[in-house]
Amino acid sequence: MAPGRQIRPIPLSLGGIPDTRNLIGRDGQAARVADLLQQSHGVVLTGDRRVGKTSLARLVEERLTGAGVRVARTSAQRESMADFARALHDAVLAASPTGAARRELERWSIGIDAGPITVERDRVSASLDDLVRRATASSPTADGTGLVLIVDEVPELARLLDVTTPGAGAALLGTLRRLRQDNSGRLSMLLLGSIGFHHVSDDAPGTLNDLVQEPVGAIAADDGAYLARCLMLGARVTPTDDREVAERITVCAEGIPYYIQQIVFALSKRRGIVSPEHVDQVVTDALTDPVDPWNLRHYLQRIEPYYGAADAEAVATVLDRFAATGEPLGVDDVRHDPAVASLDPPPSRARLVGWIEKLEQDHYLDRVDVTRSRWRSGLIRRAWLAGRR
Ligand SMILES: Nc1ncnc2c1ncn2[C@@H]1O[C@H](COP(=O)(O)OP(=O)(O)OP(=O)(O)O)[C@@H](O)[C@H]1O
Ligand SMILES: [Mg+2]
Repeated sequence: MAPGRQIRPIPLSLGGIPDTRNLIGRDGQAARVADLLQQSHGVVLTGDRRVGKTSLARLVEERLTGAGVRVARTSAQRESMADFARALHDAVLAASPTGAARRELERWSIGIDAGPITVERDRVSASLDDLVRRATASSPTADGTGLVLIVDEVPELARLLDVTTPGAGAALLGTLRRLRQDNSGRLSMLLLGSIGFHHVSDDAPGTLNDLVQEPVGAIAADDGAYLARCLMLGARVTPTDDREVAERITVCAEGIPYYIQQIVFALSKRRGIVSPEHVDQVVTDALTDPVDPWNLRHYLQRIEPYYGAADAEAVATVLDRFAATGEPLGVDDVRHDPAVASLDPPPSRARLVGWIEKLEQDHYLDRVDVTRSRWRSGLIRRAWLAGRR
């Protein structure tokens, strides 16, 4: 813990977005992302589910607005492109309280009627051009950045559009990219979502290659312990030794604030004084609880939607092989595993390489050296083993 940081009660925020004052350990990263947004076309936040991407984006927004930069934030979790365009308009309008840009924006209209989907797509794309032109028409702010758009849940909308019209998801990402390029110096974007962009289409990540990729992961050990101490105080958890218990919490949570919050919540339901062993116990209980309080079963359930029904069991068998050891494995180690070799049909080496790379993008596995990968998180590995039994 940094010297002089006061331990103060922080309320648990299970699932919601905490007040930015209660977001711990992301200040340095928020400052870096805010700077990047003022110097480039934008940033894409990458990281596993619930690692804290949306929370980080809130801190970035606060930092930028504090510096006088105009920021419009919206979620792309909408039914259609047109809904998304309207939501973006509302967000841009809210970020432009007065002045010429506001008057221009009030005159914006999406200008589409029901029609063939491709016509609708082209018109929405044109109306987004018009929206950004109006929003950035007045002179840019002092630092030269006219507008920063923060758009959460982008891959989710792109995937949804693709289900109804193949290619529409990639077209959305292409439209956003064109907007960035046509308005270089006036517009930048912070894009994020719960699922990876590679789920939209194989070449979707290519439409982001003008953006800086910013991985979001664990917070530092001292920040994790500080968060744990503040949460314990807020939740009236009495530890045997404040520091020792807080350190055990952050180690068990692997530095992920979401799990730190969940562990403190579980401890708050126990009676009596809490020791480090109790921390281990609540983690084991959560991993084996049929109610799945930390919602970890989705690591098993999403294999089928992510990898397709035909390959789901084979991909799960590959993960079983990695989970069994926890140690780094090469493709051939996996290929010669009896359970993998007896799959019908046995996967080719190239297919295995493809799956392993995708499993890395989906944060199951981590590449450790030129040829080998291993299970990324011990906690998720245990959840996998508990779910597969
Ligand atoms: N820096 C932080 N300090 C304290 N708590 C945090 C922090 N970051 C995240 N959390 C906690 O973790 C939870 C999940 O965070 P958040 O929603 O930001 O993650 P996400 O990566 O956007 O998740 P998803 O993949 O579901 O979109 C929050 O509800 C909050 O309780
Ligand atoms: Mg989120």
